[in-house]
Amino acid sequence: MTAASDTVSYEIVGDVGLICLENPPVNAASASLRAGIVAALQALEIEVSAIGIYGAGRAFIAGADIKEFGQPQADPILPEVCLAVENCAVPVVAIVHGPTLGGGLEVAMSCHARIALPSLRAGLPEVLLGIIPGAGGTQRGPRLMGVRNTLDLATTGRHVKADEALALGLVDRLDEGAPRDVALRAAQEVIAGRLATRRTAEIIVKADRTVLNEFASALRAKQAHLFSPHKAVEAVAFASGDFAHGMQREREIFQECIQSPQRAGLIHAFFAERAVGKYPEMGATPREVAEVGVVGGGTMGAGIATACLLAGLKVVLLEMNVDALDRARATITGNLDGAVKRGKMSAEARDAALGELLKLSTKYPDFSACDMIIEAVFEDMTVKKQVFRNLNLHAKPGAILATNTSYLDVDEVAKATARPESVIGLHFFSPAHVMKLLEIVVGAHTAPEVVATGFALAKKLRKIAVRAGVCDGFIGNRILNHYRKVADYLIMDGASPAQVDAAVRGFGFAMGPFQVMDLAGLDIGWATRKRLAPTRPAEERYVEIADRVCENGWFGRKAGRGYYDYPDGTPNADVLQIIETERAKAGITPCDFSDQEIVERYMTAMVCEAVRILEDGIAQRPIDIDAVQLFGYGFPRHHGGPLHYADSIGLAEIVARAERYASEDAHYWQVPRLLRELADTGGSFAELNQAAG
Ligand code: 3HC
Ligand code: NAI
Repeated sequence: MTAASDTVSYEIVGDVGLICLENPPVNAASASLRAGIVAALQALEIEVSAIGIYGAGRAFIAGADIKEFGQPQADPILPEVCLAVENCAVPVVAIVHGPTLGGGLEVAMSCHARIALPSLRAGLPEVLLGIIPGAGGTQRGPRLMGVRNTLDLATTGRHVKADEALALGLVDRLDEGAPRDVALRAAQEVIAGRLATRRTAEIIVKADRTVLNEFASALRAKQAHLFSPHKAVEAVAFASGDFAHGMQREREIFQECIQSPQRAGLIHAFFAERAVGKYPEMGATPREVAEVGVVGGGTMGAGIATACLLAGLKVVLLEMNVDALDRARATITGNLDGAVKRGKMSAEARDAALGELLKLSTKYPDFSACDMIIEAVFEDMTVKKQVFRNLNLHAKPGAILATNTSYLDVDEVAKATARPESVIGLHFFSPAHVMKLLEIVVGAHTAPEVVATGFALAKKLRKIAVRAGVCDGFIGNRILNHYRKVADYLIMDGASPAQVDAAVRGFGFAMGPFQVMDLAGLDIGWATRKRLAPTRPAEERYVEIADRVCENGWFGRKAGRGYYDYPDGTPNADVLQIIETERAKAGITPCDFSDQEIVERYMTAMVCEAVRILEDGIAQRPIDIDAVQLFGYGFPRHHGGPLHYADSIGLAEIVARAERYASEDAHYWQVPRLLRELADTGGSFAELNQAAG
C-alpha cells in the first residue's frame, strides 16, 4: 500500500489499481481524503487498466466533512474531486457499502460503474443540513436515476438500501464480500468487458417541466419555512441542459445555502444530537438491563412499557387493580398495532411482545427479577414516596429505581428508599414510545453507573438522552413554565390565543403554546400552578385566564373544549369572553402586538430561563438545552435551539429586548447575569460549548 495522503492509500494488483479510503469513523470527505483521492488517481491512471475505489471501516464516504462548513475549503473541493474521478484516463468502479451519503454518493456517481454491498445506505441528506448536494448530485443524480427519484432523495434526505439503489439505477450490481476483494474482482471484470462502464455526465436527461412544477408547489405547501429543499428543486431543473452549466448553477445555489442562517441552525442541531452523548459519568460501566418494571399504566406508563417492548425488553407493568391493568394492556396493544401498521415491527414480534415479553401485575414481588423499575404514577409526592418505599422493599439489590416525574424533586423521592445511589429521574415525553427525548435527571446521590445505565437504556430505546440536574421541571419543563407565562401576558395585554399560536407557528413551531396546552391537557398545568401557589413570589404577575378556563372543565382536546373547540379546532369564543373580563378586572386596555413582537417576547423569555438553567448548573452546556428543546418541545430545527438562536440574533440584542420589556414588568424580565456578561464581553454560547468540549 502506498499512502496518497493521511487517509487514502493505493496499491497495484496486476493491471488493477485499488484505492482505499480510511478516515474513521465514517470516512468523511475531509481535505486529506479529497486530496488523497486525486493524488491516487493521478498515480494509478498511468499504470493500470481499471481502478476500484472502496472504503475501509463501516462506510464508503458518509459525505463532506460537516465540521468544515462555514470555513474556507482547502483545494481540491469535492466537485473537483468528482470531476477528476469522472475524467480519469481509465474506468473507475466504486464499491459502496454502509453510509454513502451526500458527497460520498456524489463521488460514487462520478465513477464509471457502481457495485453495492448489502450494508449500503445511500442518500442525499444535504437538505437536513440546510444545503443542497454540491458536488454534482443534482446533475448526475437525474442522469442515473431520473428527475423524480433525484427530487425525492434530494428533498427528503431519506436513505435507500442496496436493493432500492439497484432498482433506482443508482448502482449497477449487488455483490457480497470484503470491499477490497469486491473492488479487485469488479475492476478485473471491467477489464474483461463483463462489467459495463459509462461517463455519467454524458447521459442525456429530459427534465419534465410538469413534474418539476408539481413537485415544487407540493414542497412549498409542505415545507414553507425551509430554504434549501426548494433550492434543491431549482438545481435539479438544470440537469436537462448542458452538464457544465448545470454544475456551475448547482455550485452557485450551494454557496447561497451555505451562507443561509438555516444551514448554521441545522448543522448545530446535527451536532447537538451527538454532543449530548458526552456526559461526566460516561466512563462508568452501565448495569445490565434485560427486564424493566413499570409502575402505573396510564398515558406515560403504557407508553414507556411500549417503548421497552419495541426494544425487545421484558416488561412487568404494575397497576392498582385489574381494571387499570386491562386499560393499560389495551393502550399498549393499540400502540404496538400502530407500530406494525407503520412497518416498525412485524405482526409476529407484536404477538411475542404481548404474549411473552409483557407481564401485568398488581403485586410488587413480581418486580423481583427487574433490573430497572420506572415509576409513572400520579404527579403527587405522597403517592410517589409510597411507591418508592414499596420498591425499596421488593426490588433486587442493584436494581435501578427511576421516576418519570415531570417536576418533582428526585432527591426527595430517593429519601423514601435506603438506596438513593440507585435512584434517578428518567423523564420521558408523551407519547413515550414516539418522542425522541429522554431527560436523565441526576440526583445528589445517584451513582455514576446508574447515570450511564440511563444513557444506555436511551440508546436501546433509540432515544436522545440529555443529562439534567434536579430542580422544578428540570431543563425542559422549567423553561416551558417560564415562557408559558409570557404567552399568558400576551393574551392578557391584547393578543388572542390564536394570534399567539399563529405567530409562533410562523417562527417554525408545528403548534403554538395554546394548541400544545390543549393537546397535553390544561389540568396538568393547573395542578402545577396550585402546587406552586404558596411559593409564588408576591411580585410575580399572575394571569388567571387559564384558571378560569379550567374551572369550566375545558381541559383541552380530551374535554372537547379548551382554548379551541374540538373537533374543528376553531377558537373557543367563551375563552375570548373570559379574556375580556379578566382584562377589564385588571383595568388593562388591550394593545396591538405584531407577530414579530410576539415571537421576540416569546423567544427572549425562553432564552432568559435557559441561561438561568445554565447558571444553576442544571444543564451542562448550552447545547444540551438546545437539544432538549429540539427533540422534546418541537423547537424548529433550522433555528438550532434557543441558545443557538440567541447567538444568531446577538446576545446584546437579547439583553436590550429584555431591558425594554422590563419597564412593564421588572420582576419577570430580569436579565440573567451570565447573559449580560457574555453580551458585555462579546462572548457567545457557541464559545461556551466549545470550551466545554
Ligand atoms: N462529517 C463530519 N463528521 C461526521 C460526519 C460528516 N459528514 N458524519 C458523521 N460524523 C461524525 C459524527 O459527528 C460522530 O462524531 P463523534 O463521535 O465525535 O460524535 C461520528 O462521526 C459518528 O457519527 P454518528 O454518531 O452519527 O454514527 P451513526 O453510526 O449513528 O451514523 C451516519 C452514521 C449515518 C453517517 C450519520 O453520522 C450521518 O447521518 N452523518 C451525516 C451524513 C451527511 O449528512 N452527509 C452529507 C454531508 S453534506 C455533503 O456531503 C455536501 C456535499 O454535497 C458537497
Ligand atoms: P395518568 O393519570 O395517565 O396515569 C397514572 C397511572 O398511575 C394511573 O393509571 C393510575 O391508576 C396509576 N397509579 C396511581 N397510583 C398508583 C399506585 N400507587 N400504584 C400503581 N399505579 C398507580 O398520568 P400520566 O400522564 O401517565 O403521568 C404519570 C407520571 O408521568 C406523572 O408523574 C407525570 O407528571 C409524568 N409525566 C407525564 C407526561 C404527560 O404528558 N402526561 C409527560 C412526562 C411525564
